Amino acid sequence: MVEAQSIVVPPRPEIAAGARIGSMAEYERLYRLSLDDPETFWARQGERLTWFHPWDVVFDHDYANTDFGWYLGGRLNACYNCVDRHLAARGNQDAIIWAKDEPGEYERISYRRLKHEVSRVANVLRAHGVRRGDRVCVYMPMIPELAYTMLACARIGAVHSIIFGGFSSEAIRDRIIDAGARLVVTANEGLRGGRRLRLKETVDRAVDGLDQVRTVLVARRTEAEVPMRPGRDHWLDAECRTQRSTCTYEWMGAEDPLFILYTSGSTGKPKGVLHTTGGYLVYAAMTHELVFDHRPGDVHFCAADVGWITGHSYIIYGPLANGATTVMFESLPTYPDPGRYWQAVDDLGVTTFYTAPTALRAVARAGDAPVRAHSRRSLRVLGTVGEPINPDTWRWYHDVVGEARCAVVDTWWQTETGGVLITPLPGVTPLKPGSATLPFFGVQPVLVDDEGTVLEGRGVSGNLCLSRTWPGQARTVWGDHERFRETYFTRFPGLYFTGDGCRRDEDGYYWITGRVDDVINVAGHRLGTAEIESALVAHEAVAEAAVVGFPHEIKGQGIFAFVILTMEAEQADPRQLQGALIEQVRRVIGPVASPDAVLISPGLPKTRSGKIMRRVLRQIAAGEYDDLGNLSTLAEPAVVEGLIAAHREMAATLAPDPPPEVS
Ligand code: WT7
Repeated sequence: MVEAQSIVVPPRPEIAAGARIGSMAEYERLYRLSLDDPETFWARQGERLTWFHPWDVVFDHDYANTDFGWYLGGRLNACYNCVDRHLAARGNQDAIIWAKDEPGEYERISYRRLKHEVSRVANVLRAHGVRRGDRVCVYMPMIPELAYTMLACARIGAVHSIIFGGFSSEAIRDRIIDAGARLVVTANEGLRGGRRLRLKETVDRAVDGLDQVRTVLVARRTEAEVPMRPGRDHWLDAECRTQRSTCTYEWMGAEDPLFILYTSGSTGKPKGVLHTTGGYLVYAAMTHELVFDHRPGDVHFCAADVGWITGHSYIIYGPLANGATTVMFESLPTYPDPGRYWQAVDDLGVTTFYTAPTALRAVARAGDAPVRAHSRRSLRVLGTVGEPINPDTWRWYHDVVGEARCAVVDTWWQTETGGVLITPLPGVTPLKPGSATLPFFGVQPVLVDDEGTVLEGRGVSGNLCLSRTWPGQARTVWGDHERFRETYFTRFPGLYFTGDGCRRDEDGYYWITGRVDDVINVAGHRLGTAEIESALVAHEAVAEAAVVGFPHEIKGQGIFAFVILTMEAEQADPRQLQGALIEQVRRVIGPVASPDAVLISPGLPKTRSGKIMRRVLRQIAAGEYDDLGNLSTLAEPAVVEGLIAAHREMAATLAPDPPPEVS
């Protein structure tokens, strides 16, 4: 326990906002300080924000109850920090540049206008009864109204829960129920790569018969008319016109919830990861500044969707807390051609660019010409996130996109971490293609073997854990604190377990080797195999299912489903059935979880105690039949032969993949 104290921040100009870290020696010195004297270090960082009331305690942690708190006693408002406080110095500066689906179409929103738009939406929410602490579910395309809605929630102390557009109505419904939301914000349609996404229709199916939802606000992205249920559904633009462009903000406690974001794990339904206000915002702002070497006048383009944590932290909260200009990209990297990113870079003078390896692989396969067609002169820092980046793609990014003059920052983090934890500092950290390099300030990675023994020193591989709390750490799983403890803190007592495998090399650099649990990472999106399996077995034709990841040229990992049919279904046409099962997963979870391959299987490899040997399935799915290792524990070794034969036959008939849609 840290004793309550009033805020005393010793002068340490070198770690204040805006200070540059100029050398490795400086990084090492400050990193040491962040671990040796975290109170001083983090108190300094807290000053990045404007507080209405100072904190008493910089941080507190109680591993026994998995209770973490930052800037306790402090009061602030996230929206005020992202919008209002910038008006005096940069009211006319662009806060958001909206890059619309059609190339060359942009809309600029100044900080002043942002304040007015956000205030109107906040007033609309209040008018519909949303109060401090209430949850608001949001299912929207990449349009400015999405940013307004998030910030409006933050302004009035409501907790937003954004649901990525690739999730189905069933997935939306589950999240609305779990979060206990009474109001949902959506749009009539979205536009992406020239196609229309029928979002309102999906929301209608999600809330149909769900009395809990009293209000659906509908932003207008296209001219399309959609059915509006009287009393429940309202057009957001019409509602905003009746509201003033000024709105008071709540004084929130540092530990009051800011948002919930659902993410998949090894078991059960997705968890509502909860982030709170003060620590999260300090950490998002600090990492955005240091990881991207943010400077006044920069144009920051994070190409993720706001529906994922990357978009929360590095499109909205981090950049706006720093008074930056941030780009919201509505389209696809390949629309209308694979030069789309670089055209936007030139059109807008983008300085810092951030995307997933999957998107880079998707555009790199078109060769260098679409890159060279644009100057990219403004670029300074190139970031990647979401999945391991293969060294070839890293080099292409560095040499071709960045012309060897931009730093590439491979940033490792998770929904639960709120912000980047392992990353190079651009221009400072010597880079190694494929390594996320070194821990950020205050972060203490620990590698442990499966028995929980800490692996000291260099040249070791193990399970990646974190032994310190940091301000951006998730505080709980919404409505289920025991699940939070159980998921992250019981596998290795006293440590936060990330679920990732990792190697620390001879230079102390970290190399993330991928998930060691039953989570797969498809195109930088995280999915639980158990979730997909339960969607499959809910289909009447399926008796049993096992899902694994397999290497995919563009997406990193693809989804491979082994299914065993019920007796009645065995006569069905296998092609048709495969299509129906893919459709089933799209219906239950959404297009993001669409299996790349469904193999109707004669059996599953199980141990005598009935446990599925996933290792064997992963090898078969990858077509690596030759060295299946020790199979002596299998109950029925013949199953493996049958599976190999079925996989061979399938591989022979599989058509080459169409290029995937990546976000
Ligand atoms: C998982 C977290 C963090 C925002 C996007 C994903 C993988 C993330 C890297 C990286 C290798 C990475 C990990 C992690 N991951 N960044 N730079 N190198 N792997 O957030 O959906 O919560 O997924 O993504 O496996 O655990 P998420």
